[in-house]
Parts: sequence; C-alpha cells; structure tokens
Amino acid sequence: MKRMKKIIIRGGRPLSGEVTVNGAKNSIVALMPAAILADAPVILGGVPDILDVRSLIEILESMGSVVKFENNVLVIDSSKLKSIPMLNGKINSLRASYYLMGALLSKFGEVVVGLPGGCNLGPRPIDLHVKGFEALGARVFHEKEVVCLQTGPEGLKGNHIFMDTVSVGATINIILAAVKATGKTVIENAAREPEIIDVATLLNNMGAKIRGAGTNEIHIEGVEQLSEARHFLIPDRIEAGTYLAMAAAVGEGVTVKNVLYEHLESYLLKLEEMNVKVTISENSIFVPAQGKLKTINVKTSPYPGLATDLQQPMTSLLLKSHGKAELVDMIYEGRIGHVSELQKMGANISIDKNKIVIEAPNKLKGTEVFASDLRAGASLVIAGLMADGVTTIRNAKFILRGYDRMIEKLTQLGADISLIEMDNEEPKIEERGKQWLTI
Ligand code: UD1
Repeated sequence: MKRMKKIIIRGGRPLSGEVTVNGAKNSIVALMPAAILADAPVILGGVPDILDVRSLIEILESMGSVVKFENNVLVIDSSKLKSIPMLNGKINSLRASYYLMGALLSKFGEVVVGLPGGCNLGPRPIDLHVKGFEALGARVFHEKEVVCLQTGPEGLKGNHIFMDTVSVGATINIILAAVKATGKTVIENAAREPEIIDVATLLNNMGAKIRGAGTNEIHIEGVEQLSEARHFLIPDRIEAGTYLAMAAAVGEGVTVKNVLYEHLESYLLKLEEMNVKVTISENSIFVPAQGKLKTINVKTSPYPGLATDLQQPMTSLLLKSHGKAELVDMIYEGRIGHVSELQKMGANISIDKNKIVIEAPNKLKGTEVFASDLRAGASLVIAGLMADGVTTIRNAKFILRGYDRMIEKLTQLGADISLIEMDNEEPKIEERGKQWLTI
C-alpha cells in the first residue's frame, strides 16, 4: 500500500533568515537523459534531492546505468546501458521521462516507452516531439499509451524543423535526438528557457556541437560520439520564485540565496508592480517585511515571459493584495487545481472562462486541502503560511516531486510546518474528476 503524505502548517508565523535554492528541477530531468548519451561517467553538481530525480535514478538503473547520488552530486555511468522497453512503473510517474525518447533514440536507434503521466496525446500533447523525431527520420508508432520509435539502418539525419508552438520539452527532445544525427539540424521557433541552455551546455561539454541555445533558432551539427563531462546545474528559478512569494507574503526579512535574477526578470517586474520591495544582489535577493500590496493582472507566456509555473504561487500572494486581480495562463489553461482549494480556505477567488479572478485582500483560514499538482501544492503551502489556524495539505507527494527539503527550509525560516506519512491510499485520479498535471 502506498504511504500517503500530508503537510501540516500552523499559519501566521513570520518567516525570517536565509533560504538557499537548489539546482533546477526542469534542468536535471533533462540533464539525466542527456548524460546517458555518453559511454562514460557524467558528473552533475548541485542536483536537487527530489522525487523526480529519485524516480529517474531508478529508471536509469533498471536499464543498466550505474548511478551514484551523494551530497547533491550525481554520477551517471551509462557504458552498460541497454535499451529495454519501459511500459509502466516509475516511467509514468513524471512527465519528463519523455526525454528518454530523444536520448534513447539517439543512443540506440530504437525506444519503446509508456507515455508519461497525464499525457495520452490528450490535454498535454507530445505531437511536436513526435513531429521532430519524424523530421529526423524516425518512424513513430503509438498505440494507446505506448510509443515506439525506430530509425532505419541509416540512423537519424539532420533536418530543418519549425516548431508550430514554442515547447520546452519538444525543443530539448529534438536536441537530444539530433546531437548524434548525421549532418545539421536547425530548430526554428525554439523555446528559450534557461534550462535549454543548461542542457546544451552539458551536451557541448560532452562533445556535442550546439549553437544558439537560449535563442529561438538552434543549430546542431551532429557528432559521432559523446564523452565524459562535469557540469553544475543552474539554480531553480521556480523554487526561487516560490520562496520570494512566501517571503513577500509572510516574511519579516528573508534572503533567498543562489538565485540568478536574470532568469526571474519578468517575475521580479511583476512583483515590483505589486509594490513588493526587494534588494537584488549578485546571487541573492533580500525581501524585507512588506507594506500594502497592490493587485495586478498576470498573463503567463514562454520565456522570457512570466513562467506558467509561477502562476500558482503568485495567485496565493495576490490574495494578500488590495483590489481585483485577473490571471490568465496562456501555456496551461488547466492550471487551476489550486483555485477550489483556496476557496475552501476562504479566498474570494473564482474562474471566469479562461481567467482566475481574485477580489482581495482575503483573510484565509486553515482547513484540509488537496494538492492536485506540484505548483498547486506550492501555492497551498504559501496560503497555509498566510492562513489563521491549521492547514492540512493532502497529496503532498506532488510537492516533494519538485521542492528539495521544503519542510526543513521553511522550518529554518521559522514556519510551523511538518510532513506526516500515513498508511492510507490516495484517492484515485479518476475519482478526483480533475485534470492532473505531472509537470
Ligand atoms: C515544461 C516544464 C514545465 C513548464 C512548461 C512550460 C519540464 C519538465 N516541464 O513542460 O514545468 O510549465 O515547460 O514552461 O521542463 N505543446 C503541444 N505539443 C507538444 C508539446 C507541447 O501542443 O508536443 C503545448 C503544451 O500543451 C503547452 C505548450 O505547448 O500548451 C508548452 O508546453 P511545453 O513547453 O512543451 O511544456 P513541457 O515541456 O511539457
């Protein structure tokens, strides 16, 4: 029986002190598949100890990689890796396992994988990934939840690929597939997220020839072999943004350390628009106690626009502002799992067509709520810190998927927060009747 995890927060305690951000979750889930392209050890530093990393370690080990993970350093030796079909199990637990498609296709010319959770070519399609693989010469078959990819005897061949939609996952997956293809690949209308630069940096250290990562046109010259490398992860801008929201909501002087503010510019500008005061230093941001916050409207968009992953944390912070706010998630309209739970806590928040509408300020009251996905969970932690009384967040495993030692970090800042494990089963996804995102 699965252990059920709950986070319990006794709200109303001010936060102060320092919190250090870990390496980026959305980098590491792509860097680990990238690392298997070498037939030699790849050493990654600053790796967050999160469930997604633990799941990927299990997946890689089950395929024959030798993995060591200690003190945030991950060593992956894939010289004995084999391409075996992976239809279910851990592979379904994180969406980013889709990167194994590009990496294994590149390494072995064939892959059989179960589709990542919550995907089904339905609400979170992977059509752009498939289109990219096909453009490089792969044959793709998908039946129900299984995808088979195969190259002909000639292997993958570089091509000019235009992305109809800006997609982080598809951009990285095409890079992974193209690094060892014959000839040149150009990806136009590529996503520009910092995590893409991070992946390209590791691959180039391994011997790949990738230019233009971080712009919307990426050029890849295929190479025959990739070799050992060392790489240190960029800080997690979403984790940083979450702690900044917490600090602005209930802080009395919090320094968020290991932040590249350049990766958070649009978010910091939105905080400034809300009247949140911050002091930016080279790799940290200090958030003093705040005065009255203004409401703002929020629209997410691909990088360098405001990250969709920060929409939910920002929603909770906006409950403290003064006025009416509207939030539109242009990337994932379904990112609304936090709204019903915030309502239970007494928030004046509703959905109007594709908008989340807030009338603030709101006095929140602790109650039992449910984390429907990772960032919804983060927004409920913020709300719990702001609320009077006790907030119990069920399904906390989602939060642990993406936040390294969140309970310890918040306790250190003065929060009254704990994690408890119980022997009950979680309600089944279908019973919730909601769109589940495993972002
Ligand atoms: C990644 C991040 C996620 C973030 C998202 C957007 C990881 C592991 N996850 O997810 O945290 O919220 O970027 O910044 O890095 N789309 C298609 N077809 C496809 C692929 C995507 O239509 O084949 C659409 C999606 O439905 C979405 C948009 O493109 O509306 C952007 O998605 P994408 O950038 O691919 O998100 P992910 O890579 O899944």
